[in-house]
Formats: sequence, structure tokens, C-alpha cells
Amino acid sequence: MTHERPAHRWIRWPNDPDRPRFGYGADYNPEQWPREVWEEDLRLMEEAGVTIVSLGIFSWARIQTGPDTWDFSWLDELMDRLHESGIAVDLATATTSPPPWLVTAHPEVLPVSHSGRTVWPGSRQHWRPTSPVFREHALRLTRALAERYGRHPALAAWHVSNELGCHNLYDYSDDAAAAFRAWLRRRYGDLDTLNEAWGTAFWSQHYTDWNQILPPRAAAFIPNPTQDLDFTRFSNDALLEHLRAERDLLRRITPEIPVTTNFMVNHHTRDLDYVRWAHEVDFVANDHYVRLDETGRDELSFSANLTSGLARGRPWFLMEHSTSAVNWKPVNLAKREGQLHRDSLLHLAHGADAVCFFQWRQSRAGAEKYHSAMVPHAGPDSRVFRDVVELGRLLREDLAEVAGSERLPARAAVVFDYQSWRAVERPSLPSEEIDYHREALEWYQTFLDLGIRADIVPVDGGWDEYDLVVAPLLHMVPGHLADRVNRYADRGGHLVTTYFSGTVDADDHVYLGGHPGAFRDLLGIRVEEFSPLPEGVAVPLDTGGSGDLWTEEATVTGRDVQTLARYGDGPLRGRPALTLRRIPGGGTASYTTTRLSARARRGFLLRITDEAGVGSELPEPLRGCVELAVRTAEGAEYWFLSNRTDEGVVLADLPGTPLTGTAGAHLPPDGVAVLRVERP
Ligand code: GLA
Repeated sequence: MTHERPAHRWIRWPNDPDRPRFGYGADYNPEQWPREVWEEDLRLMEEAGVTIVSLGIFSWARIQTGPDTWDFSWLDELMDRLHESGIAVDLATATTSPPPWLVTAHPEVLPVSHSGRTVWPGSRQHWRPTSPVFREHALRLTRALAERYGRHPALAAWHVSNELGCHNLYDYSDDAAAAFRAWLRRRYGDLDTLNEAWGTAFWSQHYTDWNQILPPRAAAFIPNPTQDLDFTRFSNDALLEHLRAERDLLRRITPEIPVTTNFMVNHHTRDLDYVRWAHEVDFVANDHYVRLDETGRDELSFSANLTSGLARGRPWFLMEHSTSAVNWKPVNLAKREGQLHRDSLLHLAHGADAVCFFQWRQSRAGAEKYHSAMVPHAGPDSRVFRDVVELGRLLREDLAEVAGSERLPARAAVVFDYQSWRAVERPSLPSEEIDYHREALEWYQTFLDLGIRADIVPVDGGWDEYDLVVAPLLHMVPGHLADRVNRYADRGGHLVTTYFSGTVDADDHVYLGGHPGAFRDLLGIRVEEFSPLPEGVAVPLDTGGSGDLWTEEATVTGRDVQTLARYGDGPLRGRPALTLRRIPGGGTASYTTTRLSARARRGFLLRITDEAGVGSELPEPLRGCVELAVRTAEGAEYWFLSNRTDEGVVLADLPGTPLTGTAGAHLPPDGVAVLRVERP
């Protein structure tokens, strides 16, 4: 099912619906401000070129003031005023933060933590995804909003809840326990099958009645890993079910209005399987907050690229990012000059057709008063607001023709697997230092360093069409995936995978007979033992560079396997660090038994890209300094060039004509230039 491209229905623009344009705007929280401020908001939105706002996200307490009392007057007025100003509304179902009257009357909707503590109200998202009481109230509010505003001309899309699972993904309450059992019954059918899958012969965990099964609440020692994994899968599904419940109701009442919810595709949202979520919404929307460290730019590119992968190359909606600092880190750095534009344009480069911020006006009070916004505390006479106005102009004028274009697939891909991510970052593994996201990002960075475009493609997506595929830490491999990987290489594809791949099946049971079990024959190697390395220890490779984190004692077993690099020192000295097997159909299958240093990875990838005939589209001096991302529409490609260095870069010998910046000109640090390249 997930192999199919998800359905796609873009926002319904109220005016001139067929004219492609970029969405530009923010979360708009006018309930935090007196009415006079609303007038200024509308004036400034017009000045900034705002085309869409997300309204009502945290407005439940303001809309439904008690079980049977409602106040829509302020929202009526705002919907009308926004429409008069030509601004479309992505209207929230407002169900993300239940009001005090509800949780006082029904404390049974409050989540319970791993250690059995009640998660109290006083912040936000304090609800159990599986609470029937919460669901009933949320759907009542959703219905009220859909019936009242479903025909309003400003309504462009529905925004279900907000960042589902941001704080309430894991709930260990009795409601969750009951729903978990029901989920397990659907998955396994009978207890024998569950006992087998969970390996309950171990530590006397054998179940004889469904009622004995609990969520993995805080226990004496390491939890059952399959129970734990199933609980993450169940928790994901419980939120998906909530999304579907609100969505189905909205679709019944307003079938013509697209429905979305904002994902959090980033380096720490591991346990939400967005590949599946992408099939449940009319268009993909994402929130992203850039890391203000040396990997931040590349991580943003990675996340935007993966979001495009989830959307299968179609336009997606950047629902939130920040104009400058956030408020939720220990130290919240302000963005440098130029970074607001760079971040927005990088998302655009990877297929975003809407660029929005959290939030429109910086709050005066509350937990997010030091979070940046489009209109900062300083007011419109500020660098941030001037940047906001300039970005609006750029989207409306210079880049207008790019709206609606799709991403041009690259020839290389990094395969991203949420299931393996979950499975390699658990207790009781050979090392707790494995970082799935970092590993995937590092391979992507090596492509960027070589100036070679690579798409991030979910494992359930269409990676089979790429000439070269890197699938790092592809650890959890159900039989159908093993078959697919084998077919890919047999048909001439070039596959790279890494240490701790092909190790377990979907139940987290180890493939026996030597690692990497699922890929042993394909790779032509056999590993008897994993030997993770202590933190800070690196082993040199005989070809230069080194490996750290992990090593494996591998033996070459297949014919046509070349050892490209060996350990140059330590107990595994002389053993393979990097292997390549040539496959009769012209493909190759490569494996690395360690986490390669940047230098070693670069050398290796150069070799493999050469094998696969995949090269850079950039002139030699720009490779590595500049990232190239390409969008395509009929007759034209749009080349987005983003400076990855702290120095200016001269753009020369490039095709096309500039839409922003100038070819042959200096691209400053954080600069992004866009070229239009004609295609017959
Ligand atoms: C999340 C939420 C927003 C806001 C921002 C702050 O993305 O969806 O409501 O809290 O974080 O960065």
C-alpha cells in the first residue's frame, strides 16, 4: 500500500484558485491580542505579502467556553476580515490543547507517564490519544467548526490538531493499555503468535491471557524489546487513528476542502512513521526548526529533502519555521543576517510551495514570549520584519513562476527507514552510541561534499528507480524488503549498506548463521561478531581515513567480492572494513563494517558513484561549496544554489538565467541563488 504515491490535493485558494502561487504566512494567534492590534496585523500582513495564515490552533478555550457554551463571534469577524484582505485561512480544528473546564470535569483524559505519573494540565497537549472521552469532545469541536466555517470563502485547508505526538506520543494509562491489547489482537490474532513474536520464553514472560499484557511501563530492568517496539508502533497508530477520526468527519462535512496536519520531520522525531502519515493527508505539511550549529544547514536540507520524499516529490507545505531564535533550548541563538532567507529558500528548493512561520506576532506573555515571529517585540521597524517583507516580495515576484513545480529526481538516493531508526536506538544493543539520523545525514553530507545531488527516499518509497542507493543502518529487514533489495542489485542497481544492517526481521529476531543475515549472500560476506568501539576510539584504515563507533569481524565468503579497505591496526587489523561485490547484471553491493570518517566515506563514495556513472552537475570549483537542488516544470528547470561555506562563492559556468542573485556573481555565505534553465 505504502509503495503507491499518496493522493495529493493542494490548498484551495479562495481567489483565482487555478493560479499557482506560494503560500506565505504564519500561525496567527490573535486571541492573545486586543482587537486594535488585529487592524495593524492585517495592514502589516498586506505589507509582507502574506497569503495564508493558520488560525485557531490553540483556541479551544476561547471558542468553547464550557461544555455547552460557545463563542464564535471573534472568529467570525477574523475569518471575514482576513478574507476581505485576500488572505486564505488554514483553519485549525483547535483540538490540540484541551481547556481547563474539560480536564477538570474529565481528569481521565490526562496522559500517564512511563513511571505512572499523571501528566497535569498547565501546558499543552495534555490528552491521551486513546481516550474515548477526549475523542468525543475533540470531534464535537471539530464538527462545530466544520459546520460553521465549512462554506466560508476564506477557508483554504483544514489543519488537524497540531504536531500530533509532540508531547503525548507515549501514554501508559489504562486507556492506552486497553487499546494496546486491541491493537495486538489485530496484529497477532492469538496469544501463541504474540508469545512467539515477543520471545516471551525469555525471563519467564509467557502470557496466558490478553489481560496480562501491559504497555512497557517503568520496570526493574531492560524491557522486552519487541513489546517495546510494538508499543512505539501502536503509539504511532493511536495518533494516526485520531488524525483519521478528525479528518473523516471534516471530509464528510466539507469534502471539497483539503485536510492536513503538521509533521515534525527532524533529527529527534524517530517514533512517528511519517511514511504512513503521508498517505492520510491531502498534502504533506512540515514544521522544522534549524539547528544553529555547524551541521544545521545540511540538516535542514536533509529534512526538507526527506519531506519531499514523503510527499513523493510533490509540493508540500512548510507550516512552521522560525524567523530567528526559538525559546525551548537551553540557549536560544538568534539567526544571523541572511539566515531567514536561506532557510526559507532551502525548503523551497526541496519542493515546499508554502513557507510559513511560527508565529505571526511575537507573544507578550506566555511560555513562548521569547520565540521569534514575523512581527517581533521591536515592531515592524526591525531587521526581522524588513527581511519578512523582502522574502514576501521574492516569493510573489521573482520566484512566482517556480510555484507548482515538482522536484527533479536525482540519480542517487539515501534510503531512510523509520523502523530501523527505532530498532537501532534501544537499550540492550551492542552499543547505545548508534545514531541512525546522524549516520544517514553523514552519507547525505558526503554527497553534498561531492556536489552530487541525492534524494532522501523513505524505504517504502520508490528508491528502486535510482542508479545508486545508500541504505545506512538498514537493520530491520522483513523478508519482502530483503527480496526487494536483492532484486534491485540484480537488475543492475548499485547498493551501499553499512554495519549493523540486515540483522533482524520485523519482530526484532536475529537472522541466524552470521551477520548481516538478510544480506549475507548479496554482499558475499559473513560477520561472526560485532565489536563496537569505546567512545573516542578510532581505527585507521589502510586506504586512509578511519572508522569509529563500531567494527565487525568479517570474512569474505562470496565470489566477485573485492575488499576495498582493511583495518590498519587493532585486533581486527587486516580484516575487511569496506567490501564491494560485483553482481552479474552489472550492479554492485557494498558494505562497510564501521562508521567511516568523512575522509574514508568521501573516497569510497567517489569510487561507487564512478561505478554507477553518477556524477556532479556542477562545475568543478563549485562542488562541495554549493548545494544544488532542482525543481522542474514544463519547459524549465529551477536550479537552487545554496552556499555551504562561510566564504563568498563565485557562481560561474552555470546554465540558465538568474531569477534571484546573479550568475557570475558573488554568492555570500548563507546565500541562495535561483536560476531558470530552459528545457526543450
Ligand atoms: C511547535 C509548535 C508551535 C510552537 C513552536 C515553537 O512547532 O507547533 O506551536 O510551539 O513549536 O518553536
